[in-house]
Amino acid sequence: MSAAATLTDLSAMVDRRAAGEPLEHVLGWAEFCGLRIAVDPGVFVPRRRTEFLVSQAITLASRPSQAAARRRTVVVDLCCGSGALGVAVATALGGVAGSELAERQVELHAADLDPVAVRCARRNVAAVGGHVYEGDLYRPLPTTLRGRVGILIANAPYVPTDKVALLPPEARLHEPQVALDGGADGLDILRRVAGEAPQWLAPGGHLLSETTERQASRLTEAVARAGLIPRVARSEELNAAVVVATRPA
Ligand SMILES: C[S@@+](CC[C@H](N)C(=O)[O-])C[C@H]1O[C@@H](n2cnc3c(N)ncnc32)[C@H](O)[C@@H]1O
Repeated sequence: MSAAATLTDLSAMVDRRAAGEPLEHVLGWAEFCGLRIAVDPGVFVPRRRTEFLVSQAITLASRPSQAAARRRTVVVDLCCGSGALGVAVATALGGVAGSELAERQVELHAADLDPVAVRCARRNVAAVGGHVYEGDLYRPLPTTLRGRVGILIANAPYVPTDKVALLPPEARLHEPQVALDGGADGLDILRRVAGEAPQWLAPGGHLLSETTERQASRLTEAVARAGLIPRVARSEELNAAVVVATRPA
């Protein structure tokens, strides 16, 4: 009710929700890590479960060894969707370099394949002074980031193709297939992310990817094959599993 300007607006919004549109698309925003993130129709709605990945990233970036080694932490949010994860990490770490918020400097870069997501992310990420690029995984990133990334976040699609049809209608009908479908076992994109990560991570830098509990061991093997040191962080409360892969120092 507080989001609608008039009774007519309210009625139209209720109709959209009753027809199955996600509440966040109707309102135009989602609450994520205590922030209000703009989410346009057709853009993946950031999930509460993913706040666990963000909390892990913040903990790693705040470790004294990292902070001392790199005054300015380079954060990259691949498959960024609305850009919620990168914005949450940058905000928690004290803001983006050069912006008013900047106490402890963060350089934030985000990328997505889908132009609709990129347009939406630009609004969210610009608000904290970061940059958004359009293209396949690492391809659109500036090459100057190679070997400099301290925190690489990739909440990529990880639903196995044959399970997409089983998702709730809010996801199945209102979020694009490219945001959900992770290939035969759900790990096609995350394997590609892991394979190239060592070229972009700084020594001691971390890649963080959300998976299901069942996929975690297979993704762990993939990151180890890429030369990274894996571990799995879990939250029972949020029903979340995150594979954290670290480039040896
Ligand atoms: C599960 S959504 C997650 C979005 C965001 N990270 C979040 O958690 O809210 C996955 C995102 O990956 C993007 N994507 C899928 N394949 C991609 C690729 N090959 N390169 C870049 N982005 C891709 C989709 O467009 C979608 O926005």
